[in-house]
Amino acid sequence: IPQGIDLVAEINRMRKEKNAIILAHYYQKGEIQDIADFLGDSLQLARAAEKTDADLIVFCGVHFMAETAKILNPTKKVVLPDTLAGCSLADSCSGEGLRELKKKHPGAIVVSYINCDSTVKAESDIIVTSSNAEHIIRSLPEDQEIIFAPDKNLGRYINQVTGRNMILWDGACIVHEAFSLERIAQQMLDHPKAKLIAHPEAQKPVLQVAHYVGSTANMLNYVATDDCQEFIVATEEGILHEMRKRAPHKKLIPALTIDDTCNCSECHFMKLNTMQKLYLCMKYEQPEITMDEELRVKALKSINKMLELSK
Ligand code: 13P
Ligand code: SF4
Repeated sequence: IPQGIDLVAEINRMRKEKNAIILAHYYQKGEIQDIADFLGDSLQLARAAEKTDADLIVFCGVHFMAETAKILNPTKKVVLPDTLAGCSLADSCSGEGLRELKKKHPGAIVVSYINCDSTVKAESDIIVTSSNAEHIIRSLPEDQEIIFAPDKNLGRYINQVTGRNMILWDGACIVHEAFSLERIAQQMLDHPKAKLIAHPEAQKPVLQVAHYVGSTANMLNYVATDDCQEFIVATEEGILHEMRKRAPHKKLIPALTIDDTCNCSECHFMKLNTMQKLYLCMKYEQPEITMDEELRVKALKSINKMLELSK
């Protein structure tokens, strides 16, 4: 990258020239969130990817999200600033592993959290995100056997609120699993007026003491609309960037994790994307997400089912 280059101006120029759209998740670095054409949680990003008429989709998020955009847009070029931006949840489950579990429960419907790769999506009947999982599970017949993959924490939470008994894959998000109940309890004592809000990927003890449990988009909405003026936020710290914009006068405290060398929780996969890599990826239109067509068509079915059921 030439020294002294104005990255924002260059990215804006290329966005116009190439008819590109920059999609970014709320866990991205603040400067990337600020330059995005569209900022959203997993569900909003999947919907935006479905609707876009851009020629180049620049996905600032993690690999499974960019892959989802490609599944929905086979004729468009989809690029991701850093292909090493993976996800511990997605890595915990493979299509082959899920196929083995399905053999043991031949009557089960497979519902998978969008945080999974295309081989898992291809083995699934319905995809869900944290914004629509409860709604979609409730829409299935009560006596229907369900396998839920790959997040056991979200699965356990949905079992609890819906009274279901879904069979859970043993996967978890390293970021949300790291919250420390002990340290959060101390934060609650130190800030007695604050409400604890948590993402359902967090573990059961944290969810049990939370005043509100919700997806990224729902937490943002809750903070902006609830009367409370102080919140302890148990999710990835990137969300605070948008929360501060939507609720500028409220006090936002990142929940503490078991790592006492830092005072917030960051997804290092999400943070692999930088402005420099975004610039390079727009300039060279790579790394590009490519997919086997047979696999794409199989994976598309379960994503379309979600988009249909969450309308
Ligand atoms: P949502 O955007 O669906 O809330 O998911 C959070 C997450 O962990 C994304 O990787
Ligand atoms: Fe995956 Fe967790 Fe990072 Fe989301 S926050 S991308 S679930 S590791």
